[in-house]
Amino acid sequence: MVKAAVLGASGGIGQPLSLLLAISPYVDELRLYDIVNTPGVGADLSHINSKAKVTAYLPEGQGLEKALTGADIVVIPAGIPRKPGMTRDDLFKINAGIVSDLVTGVAKFSPKAVILIISNPVNSTVPIAAEVLRKHEVFDATKLFGITSLDVARAATFVADVVGGSPTHYKVPVVGGHSGETIVPLLSQITPKTEIPSDKLDALVKRIQFGGDEVVKAKEGLGSATLSMAYSGYKFAESLLRAVNGEMGVVEPAYVHLEDIPGGKDVKDDVGGLDFFAVPVELGPNGAVWVNNPLPRANDYEKALLEEAKKKLAENIVKGIEFVTPTS
Ligand code: NAD
Ligand code: LMR
Repeated sequence: MVKAAVLGASGGIGQPLSLLLAISPYVDELRLYDIVNTPGVGADLSHINSKAKVTAYLPEGQGLEKALTGADIVVIPAGIPRKPGMTRDDLFKINAGIVSDLVTGVAKFSPKAVILIISNPVNSTVPIAAEVLRKHEVFDATKLFGITSLDVARAATFVADVVGGSPTHYKVPVVGGHSGETIVPLLSQITPKTEIPSDKLDALVKRIQFGGDEVVKAKEGLGSATLSMAYSGYKFAESLLRAVNGEMGVVEPAYVHLEDIPGGKDVKDDVGGLDFFAVPVELGPNGAVWVNNPLPRANDYEKALLEEAKKKLAENIVKGIEFVTPTS
């Protein structure tokens, strides 16, 4: 019996993601939580003749507690999205508090759940979540994932735009974090082996790093990626649930706390001691079982990208931790 909860279920990502979870063969119960509109979204989804039983909650009447109690997987797309001209870090002011409050709920009411964080800035909201869980003495790195799968989806799509063929044909390792220069596509390691023409390389890397901006700009103030994110978030959740069902060798990219996941310590050493980093992670019945290491090989061009990413990530991580546990 898999019980999934979506926190921020009425939003641009929350609604289509909840739809995908509602029709998933892996979900038996789906709880929707938001500060607005969940009764409507819940009533709508509950008419679908899939096996998932859908229930909906608002904050009143201990809604968060009811949505979370007994949940196995908690997906968090709650929080404000960017408008043109904003960076993801500009969202910190509002979203840090939202994520901190919601993860406090997870710590109290479903401390064993696997948590998927979508809310931006992911580079900082995942450290916030880890720190909140740690304060409640329930932190388990194998159960906390920052969702970076949209970067991998974009990488394959944009590679296909450059070299032709179907986006489904390419697998591109993308490591680091989830914003601008912290997103590091390792284009020398595309499978199947694919050469990117050197005069196209810089522009392709930039497009993958700043793909989110394309959507923000096109939506003209009405938000950021929602449908592609709902799809990418669902793909991650589905992979996790396949692993929960006993499938072996399921690997997905995610932004994780490296040290406490088997294999992660080696990657942590490779990336200059950063605590959090997006890497391919093998999933098992209870969450992460293995961080693939060493990192996929990087050429000199990519090593320079990694250096830039590491500097920015270090700041983003400290900012998240300091939000929960100020040092001064
Ligand atoms: P949205 O504004 O459409 O939806 C957000 C929802 O969160 C709203 O329904 C809102 O009511 C709800 N919410 C706000 N505070 C809440 C709280 N305390 N408890 C529960 N719900 C609360 O925004 P969106 O487009 O769905 O984006 C959501 C977040 O996801 C943003 O921070 C965005 O930047 C991020 N995002 C991340 C990725 C990624 O790759 N990780 C991709 C796209 C968007
Ligand atoms: C994305 O990559 O599309 C998301 O992080 C949303 C954004 O702000 O760009």
